Amino acid sequence: MPVSAFPASALSSATTGNPPPAAASLVSPQLAQHVQEGLSRPFKTLSSMYFYDDEGSRLFQQIMALPEYYPTRTEFALLTRHQVAIGEALRPHDPAEHFFLLELGAGDGLKTKILLRQLLDTAARFTYVPVDISQAALDGLTASLQAELPNLQVEPVVADYADALRLMAARPGRKAVLFLGSNIGNFFPDDRLRFLRDLVQPLTSDDRLLVGFDLQKDPRRIRAAYDDSQGVTAAFNFNLLHRLNRELGADFDLTHWQHYTDYDPLSGAVRSFLVSTQAQTVQFAALNWAVEFAAWEMIHTENSYKFTPSGIAETARQAGLAVQQLFTDDQRFFADALLRPMDLA
Ligand code: AVI
Repeated sequence: MPVSAFPASALSSATTGNPPPAAASLVSPQLAQHVQEGLSRPFKTLSSMYFYDDEGSRLFQQIMALPEYYPTRTEFALLTRHQVAIGEALRPHDPAEHFFLLELGAGDGLKTKILLRQLLDTAARFTYVPVDISQAALDGLTASLQAELPNLQVEPVVADYADALRLMAARPGRKAVLFLGSNIGNFFPDDRLRFLRDLVQPLTSDDRLLVGFDLQKDPRRIRAAYDDSQGVTAAFNFNLLHRLNRELGADFDLTHWQHYTDYDPLSGAVRSFLVSTQAQTVQFAALNWAVEFAAWEMIHTENSYKFTPSGIAETARQAGLAVQQLFTDDQRFFADALLRPMDLA
């Protein structure tokens, strides 16, 4: 599960039909503010960071196993193929030197275990610091690491991106930071740059970053990955409305909404929407507020940017980073970019 800037609300009991209004004291103020701002805009919008409550995280696990959703299995194959070179590039030249391997949005760590095994096999001296907003995800990961890699030193940290960056700045020593899975593609371009600049700031020129980027390819393949035949991605998108029903006492009737996805090769963005199929008013009981939707009006819910190698290099340059190596799979579907802070001297 990607790291999200806001914790899931305590209110997540499953309900059917129209739920009772959420108790005002249990409503997340961040979610309430976000929804009121986003649904008051001329083109309504909600952030994909709110996809990941317990149900959304479960649906995302299902998405990663779908035949149409190529990024996860492709990055897994890529890491398997290049594990020796990546392991060498991440660790300090001096084998005796200790380093921190920090992973943002660690999730279930399935892909990372390839690199962890590789580093342990080559007797690297390191501490793995998985960072995630979900305590449950980190508990599960830590337990599986203890069972599978008992010699690994692990220091899990429950934090959002900003706290993780502060934490990194406070720890002296060499660092290698992992940001896998094309989570970088979910940022708007400006936010992406800001995020990378914040990330690079506490690093020295000896530190390294490994960032996953989904590459531009056959546009039909990309679009299919976000509109799968089993409807799991649609359910993932709809879950946002279920969440607002549960947590803000909204009365979205899901029979009057559609999932719609579009890939724009000019910008490289997959954009996902929820489409209102008729004119309707949605009440938010917990906010004492209502929103009107015209027929075929949409809520923009997610961006998933796809990149070119030159675009990755340019983004890196603007953030003060240089691409040291670009690791790709056989089909050049996905890239893990090894980045290093540029020497300003
Ligand atoms: C988490 N993130 C990288 C996924 C993506 O591909 O943008 C989220 C996702 N949305 C729909 N399917 C998967």
